[in-house]
Amino acid sequence: MAEELFIETQASKEEKYQSLIPQIEALISSEKDNIANLANIAAALKYGMGFFWVGFYLVKDAELVLGPFQGPIACTRIQKGKGVCGTAWETGEVQLVPDVEQFPGHIACSSDSKSEIVLPLVKQNQVVGVLDVDSDKLSDFDETDAKYLTLLSESISKLL
Ligand code: SME
Repeated sequence: MAEELFIETQASKEEKYQSLIPQIEALISSEKDNIANLANIAAALKYGMGFFWVGFYLVKDAELVLGPFQGPIACTRIQKGKGVCGTAWETGEVQLVPDVEQFPGHIACSSDSKSEIVLPLVKQNQVVGVLDVDSDKLSDFDETDAKYLTLLSESISKLL
C-alpha cells in the first residue's frame, strides 16, 4: 500500500482531484475495514485538497452520527432533514451551499465555516451516510467539487 500521497501544490483544483482520486481508490482497495478507509480518505482529502474540515456522518439508529474526519471537533449527531447534512440524507441530493448563513437550519459546528458541500453516500437506493466538506471561505465549492466528490462518493458507497 502506498503510504504517501503525491500532491501537486501548484495544480488547478481539477488537476488535484484527477491526481488524488485514483490514489485514494488505490489506498482503499487493499483494506476492508470501513473505519480505516474512511479515516484515510478524510486525511487524503484534507491534505490533498487543503480543505478546512472534511469528514463522514454515517446513518446509525435513524440519526447521522459523526464518523472519521479531519479538522476541528464537530457536532456528533444530526437528525434527518436537519442542517445541510440532514437535508442531503433526506433528499439523497448533493447540497452545494455558497453561504451557510443563508441555508435555513444550517448547523454551525464551527463559526469559522462559511461554505459547505455535502454528498450523500447511496447504497442500494438508501442513503447510508454523507461526505461533508466545509470551507472557511464563502463560495469555495463549485460544480468541479460536486463532479469529483460525487465520483469519489460512488466509490466510497461501494465500500460501505
Ligand atoms: N454544517 C453541517 C453540520 C456538520 S459540520 O459542518 C461538520 C450541517 O448543517 O449539517
